Amino acid sequence: MPDAPPSLAELAEEGRGAIAAAGSTAEIEDVRVRLLGRKAPLTVLKRSIGDLPPEERGRVGREANQAGAELAALLAERTAALEAEELDRRLATDRVDVTLPGDPPSSLGSLHLITQTRREIEDVFVGLGFRVLEGPEIEFDFYNFTALNHPPGHPARMLQDTFYLSGGDTPPDSPPASPGGGPPETPQASTDVLLRTHTSPMQVRAMEAQEPPIYVIVPGKTYRRDSDATHTPMFHQVEGLAIDEDITLADLQGVLLAFARSIFGPEREVRLRPHYFPFTEPSVEVDISCFRCGGTGVAPDGGRDGLCKGSGWIEILGAGMVDPNVLGFVADRGYDPDRVQGFAFGMGIERIAMLRHGVPDLRLFFENDVRFLAQFGR
Ligand code: DAH
Repeated sequence: MPDAPPSLAELAEEGRGAIAAAGSTAEIEDVRVRLLGRKAPLTVLKRSIGDLPPEERGRVGREANQAGAELAALLAERTAALEAEELDRRLATDRVDVTLPGDPPSSLGSLHLITQTRREIEDVFVGLGFRVLEGPEIEFDFYNFTALNHPPGHPARMLQDTFYLSGGDTPPDSPPASPGGGPPETPQASTDVLLRTHTSPMQVRAMEAQEPPIYVIVPGKTYRRDSDATHTPMFHQVEGLAIDEDITLADLQGVLLAFARSIFGPEREVRLRPHYFPFTEPSVEVDISCFRCGGTGVAPDGGRDGLCKGSGWIEILGAGMVDPNVLGFVADRGYDPDRVQGFAFGMGIERIAMLRHGVPDLRLFFENDVRFLAQFGR
């Protein structure tokens, strides 16, 4: 004789235990099928109620429905609890730490040595109270030459140095469209617009934009028709300009001494040599004491130091006191040459980088040979 089927009370009791014991949403789904599915004992029992003697059908039907409703409620409750637990666990393990570095950081490359050097130079001058400005690489002849006291016909305007941009038939030596009175509204002559040959045009542009006192440096690209081991058609300069009421050449020397010591070491000295630039008066070339031989001119082997060619000094830039004629172009902006004066300087970023790192050929900077560039990666 087969075992007697489990009583409703037993089914309910067993169901409660199974629901409580389920440890995951997958398990609780199995339990649900086992307790309330089509083949579940409770379902089978409900289906067979019609076979019972009529006087028992009502009671058994009621009890079966109650047991089913109780189990369904317990199942729903446990399912929700398990779902919540699993969500919490997933959130804890899947969490993305947005503060971790990108992956992989080393494959991003590094700053070009010229960019690194430019930033170091900027840091020094910002520390001395200068602001950093940038200016246009495509420039009017007016700012590049005329307003910097290069009168028309001055040798520095000669075509072999400069990339001129605007077309037209006007011969290069024709007078500028707007002699001395500002840049032309509409450039016409083929010499009116050019690739700036130096960052110096920003001297006048900066003074047009700001009344004195002014302390600015201007890093940027510059262009000349030139190409050999120490010249490339595109190169970088940093211009400096300081105009105030009591500025002397000693201020220039002090600023450049601080610069030289920051970039080339605390032992450095600077020396000013007389020179000529159209837009400064007096003009100087600035040397720093040689950082390789310590200024003695003697190499460790007793011979002549090759870096400074035995002189103990290395030329690093051009500078001078701003010519009153230049201030005359911005006199209406408060640059009265009788009241304010100041200094300007201009240096080549490549030259500074080559000196510091012993780079023998300027063209290496722009050939994009990763073996060269990676040596300065940081
Ligand atoms: N602009 C000059 C050049 O490219 C460098 C220079 C010299 C800039 C003297 C200056 C300066 O501001 O005062 O050769």
